[in-house]
Amino acid sequence: MALEDLPFDAQLIEKELRKAGFDFTFQRVDKRKAFLKALQERPPDLILSDYNVPQMNAIEAIRELKAQKLDIPFILITGSQSEEVAVACMKEGMDDYLLKQSLKRLPSAVQNAIEKKSVRQEKRKAIAQIQKANEELKRMNELKTVFLAMVSHELKTPLSSIKAGIDLLAAGVDGPMNASQNETLNIVQSNIDRLSRLVNNVLDYTHLEAGQMKLQFELTDLCELVRQVKSLMILAMKGREIDFSVDLPSQAVKVICDPDKMKQVLVNLLDNSIKFTEKAGKIRLSLDRKEEQKEHQKEQKTINLIVEDNGVGIPVGEQEKIFEIFHQSPYQGAWKCGGSGVGLAICKQIIELHHGRIWVENAKPQGSRFHISLPINPPKPS
Ligand SMILES: Nc1ncnc2c1ncn2[C@@H]1O[C@H](COP(=O)(O)OP(=O)(O)O)[C@@H](O)[C@H]1O
Ligand SMILES: [Mg+2]
Repeated sequence: MALEDLPFDAQLIEKELRKAGFDFTFQRVDKRKAFLKALQERPPDLILSDYNVPQMNAIEAIRELKAQKLDIPFILITGSQSEEVAVACMKEGMDDYLLKQSLKRLPSAVQNAIEKKSVRQEKRKAIAQIQKANEELKRMNELKTVFLAMVSHELKTPLSSIKAGIDLLAAGVDGPMNASQNETLNIVQSNIDRLSRLVNNVLDYTHLEAGQMKLQFELTDLCELVRQVKSLMILAMKGREIDFSVDLPSQAVKVICDPDKMKQVLVNLLDNSIKFTEKAGKIRLSLDRKEEQKEHQKEQKTINLIVEDNGVGIPVGEQEKIFEIFHQSPYQGAWKCGGSGVGLAICKQIIELHHGRIWVENAKPQGSRFHISLPINPPKPS
């Protein structure tokens, strides 16, 4: 389409393009009304426009295309040279600018403008595809979370009833157990506990994913909390000949945190240490108070918790990845004894909800050392 009020100029343009071998149908519109009508009835593949036609100029024409969301290559062809006009049109999104007196460059300008449009189209198509794939991924991810939530929820109820039954048996309610039966029950109990932890972890993960995990902050003595975790874990270490030590300061260490969630973090870490440590291994849980003075920041009091073992250790390249959900180090071969890769992801999220940090490094001479740095007084949740 030529947006041109002078028929002779439009003919010249058409002739130049035919001469260059372009095959097209040509239409001249000479004023705003005709332009709008043509856009509505049959939008052209290319617009070659004079700067001024009755009731409209090229800038208004380009804006009209934008308003109608039409992507049509637009080349300005004017009689007089005005850089300002050219720059203004370029800013609006015009493809090229030519003078009527020298139409030699017209064919290549047209070719370029058409190619540019096809690139734009491809790009839009690719973006739309990516967006669609993204939507699909998001949907699958949501489905996965719903599925995990459902399964873990369904497992929870029968599991508690199995646990209650076993506890009753172990307590000798239905008659005393002999030593061998007791040993079997112990193994069953510790496995049920592990399964419960896994189910709770997965359930928590689904809550975290959905942003539904609410922490119950309260002033907590971490030493007392660690002692509770210790007695819990001693049960889990039964029969493993593990040298488990806990190192606590003599005075209470009061922190504002969610005690249940903090326990869950420590249990997860110790559970891993047991899993990745040989029979006569060593596991140490320690707590110390640290006062960090960061530059330009006011004093920040933190507590450091360390869970250290002398087990298989974690290759350096894996030390960040293991905090990702479902990630299990592929380098531990025979040590891979089940698990789901959920535990550490939960620990990280819980610690971050406390505005703390968790990371791991190699222990010396071997094994892993997990660090948790926790602010004593985390900012209040909004
Ligand atoms: N104490 C540890 N020693 C060696 N490897 C560990 C230790 N803790 C965690 N890992 C590695 O991190 C991975 C992820 O741990 P986690 O998220 O708790 O999942 P899971 O215990 O179900 O495998 C483990 O599979 C293991 O590869
Ligand atoms: Mg684990």
